[in-house]
Amino acid sequence: MLGKKLVTAQKRGDTRALFLGLGMMACSVLMYFFIEITITPKYKKSIWTKESICEVMKASIKEKVHCIFNKHSGDENIFRYPCLEVQVNLTALGQVVMLYHTEDTWTRNPKCSYIPGNLENFGEVQKNVESIKNNFSKIKIFPCFYDPSRAEPSVILERLYSPAGFVITMIWPTLMMTGGILIIILVKINQYLSVFTASQYIRPV
Ligand SMILES: *[C@@H]1O[C@H](CO)[C@@H](O)[C@H](O)[C@H]1NC(C)=O
Repeated sequence: MLGKKLVTAQKRGDTRALFLGLGMMACSVLMYFFIEITITPKYKKSIWTKESICEVMKASIKEKVHCIFNKHSGDENIFRYPCLEVQVNLTALGQVVMLYHTEDTWTRNPKCSYIPGNLENFGEVQKNVESIKNNFSKIKIFPCFYDPSRAEPSVILERLYSPAGFVITMIWPTLMMTGGILIIILVKINQYLSVFTASQYIRPV
């Protein structure tokens, strides 16, 4: 009686563990899929792969420049942040080109080198952009990234979508996939072992 109950309980436990394992695998597949459609394109578009040294030639704040977000709002004359323009000498090639903060800056507004994070208080935003401009007059030489194929002449200061970043992004779904597979393997081994032990007991001596 007790033995039968134990076997039923173990079976139920096995089924739960199997479902947990399968659930984790399904979840990681969803995560891979999500990464593939949302994040991978950003990594593919990150063409600024080569590092070099850049030297600031000019850092200035342009007079009012359209903020891209307002293009379709009808209110054509709202400017939400001062537009900082930084020109650098890409010393590896001796070319003077536009510098962008990150890949996203280039995508969102290629007219400006920097887009402030919080656009709510214009006074704060102005101070923020000014201080960044001043930093460029203090730190004139720094590492930067450029497109070695020269399809894109500009350079960026920080690479958001580097291969190392992609590996880090893939760690979570991969861990979950491995966990799911391990659970299923363990359940199978356990089942095999209990069948094996049971057969040892049943076998007549
Ligand atoms: C840019 O840097 C290179 C290498 O240091 C130098 O030869 C060149 O004259 C610089 N160009 C300008 C416009 O300053």
